[in-house]
Amino acid sequence: MKPRFANKVAVVTGAASGIGHAIATGLRDEGASVVAGDLVPQNIPAGTLGVQVDVSDEGQVQALIDTCINEYGQIDVLCNNAGVGGVTDVLNCTTEEWDLLFTVNVRGMFLGIRAALPHMLSAGHGVIVNTASVAASVGLPNRAAYCASKGAVVALTKQVAVQYASQGIRCNCVSPGTVDSPWVGRLLDQAEDPVAMREALVARQPLGRLGTPDEVADLVLYLASDQASFVTGADWLIDGGIAAG
Ligand SMILES: NC(=O)c1ccc[n+]([C@@H]2O[C@H](COP(=O)([O-])OP(=O)(O)OC[C@H]3O[C@@H](n4cnc5c(N)ncnc54)[C@H](O)[C@@H]3O)[C@@H](O)[C@H]2O)c1
Repeated sequence: MKPRFANKVAVVTGAASGIGHAIATGLRDEGASVVAGDLVPQNIPAGTLGVQVDVSDEGQVQALIDTCINEYGQIDVLCNNAGVGGVTDVLNCTTEEWDLLFTVNVRGMFLGIRAALPHMLSAGHGVIVNTASVAASVGLPNRAAYCASKGAVVALTKQVAVQYASQGIRCNCVSPGTVDSPWVGRLLDQAEDPVAMREALVARQPLGRLGTPDEVADLVLYLASDQASFVTGADWLIDGGIAAG
């Protein structure tokens, strides 16, 4: 059987760790040429083209997409996945934290889409998959800026989907619950009682465990593939059931 991403070219951000690493690995394994962007690109998957990029920097994001076009001549798939977290409520959220989350999580995705779209539009096809979060759908405690930033990602996803649907572009997002990536490792390291915190994170997911980066990557690959040819503008929960509760 032909691999799903044979002759396809994909750009993945946040590809050095966790969910992005799993997405880039999966795309590579299914035949894509992958440009793997990250702030710290040391650990990008073997066999992908690593590019150092801060997704909040306009020039660097343009350079990431330019590198893809110069190397491979096309961009078929953009996975806007890089993101940062914050663990405060509104009263304790500094303006700096708020701005950082919106700059990386929202402006970063806008910049990636804006740089990639002209190439997709001239090719007459292209797929964008953004990593949002269940935090866009439910008010998670102590995640004020994070919830708001991921809500913006979902809204942007829908707007882009509708705007460009007639020109061969699909745009969807995935919304994970808590996924066992280095991100969660860092969260636990900062906790007063890491064991209790991990138990609490597990307990809030009806399936009774954390998700894995590979599970999220499987969904992203489906959305990026031709199997999802009738799917656009959707926010795909992959949250162990949190939002259903
Ligand atoms: N892990 C979870 O529980 C979870 C849940 C819901 C959504 N998400 C989302 O999934 C995405 C990936 O998270 P993860 O769990 O794999 O985290 P992670 O920390 O393991 O990986 C994130 C990667 O993004 C990179 N990055 C951070 N800021 C960047 C920037 N400005 N420019 C370029 N790269 C940058 C980091 O260097 C890192 O390699 C994020 O958007 C996050 O909000 C994660």
